[in-house]
Amino acid sequence: MTSLAFSLITYAVNPKQIAAERAVTYIRDGMDVGLGTGSTAAYAIAALGKRLQTEPLRLRCVATSLATEELARAQNIPLAAWDDVRRLDVTIDGADEADPQFRLIKGGGGALLREKIVAAITEAEIIVVDNSKVVPALGAHPLPVVVVPFAWQSTQARLRERFGVEAPPRLAPDGGMFVSDDGCYVLDAAFGAPLPSPDTLEAEIKSVIGVVESGLFLGHCQRLIIGHPDGRIEEKAPPGQ
Ligand code: 5RP
Repeated sequence: MTSLAFSLITYAVNPKQIAAERAVTYIRDGMDVGLGTGSTAAYAIAALGKRLQTEPLRLRCVATSLATEELARAQNIPLAAWDDVRRLDVTIDGADEADPQFRLIKGGGGALLREKIVAAITEAEIIVVDNSKVVPALGAHPLPVVVVPFAWQSTQARLRERFGVEAPPRLAPDGGMFVSDDGCYVLDAAFGAPLPSPDTLEAEIKSVIGVVESGLFLGHCQRLIIGHPDGRIEEKAPPGQ
């Protein structure tokens, strides 16, 4: 009985949720806010919606995917058009992997193109993860690469020639090609850990003709909030942030 009660208490904490809820405390009245995509970011959207029920926050938010847009609308979170916002105060987003240098692999949800555009115009990008996403070296999670659909196979071949990496196309649940919100395909490049030269790899992948964007995020994470299953929340920031 005691051990059953203990395990119920242990599993009552959702590490993604506690990290996301902590991140939402950084949102202040008057801010322009980026809303990330994925299950962790969804907790942040729910927490922000809850705050808006009791606090008169004037916000303009930008959604990084159609799914996030839908969640935000359901929470009455005010949304701005992409071209109406040139900079964002804060973005809260998830990640698939984060290393000790705050480098990230993102794009497990296929929203990496919009997520990177948003990250690039954000003053304070807050990444929220559970502890399983924190790794000593990136690369065990495949690196998502957004490619133009009409030439995906030749782009895949160029990636293989240049990096010796297999990058199968991501498939949708029905077995067809996964198509991003922006009409692109995603190749999941299986580099393995450690990812070779992460600091130069982003630019090298971007230089391959047919590649639109990669899920390697360098220098974007200003704060990493990590939720642990025991209820602890760690906050880390790169030096100088
Ligand atoms: C979507 C992403 C997500 O942030 C990433 O895949 C993490 O997802 P989750 O919070 O569901 O684990 O990059 O493109």
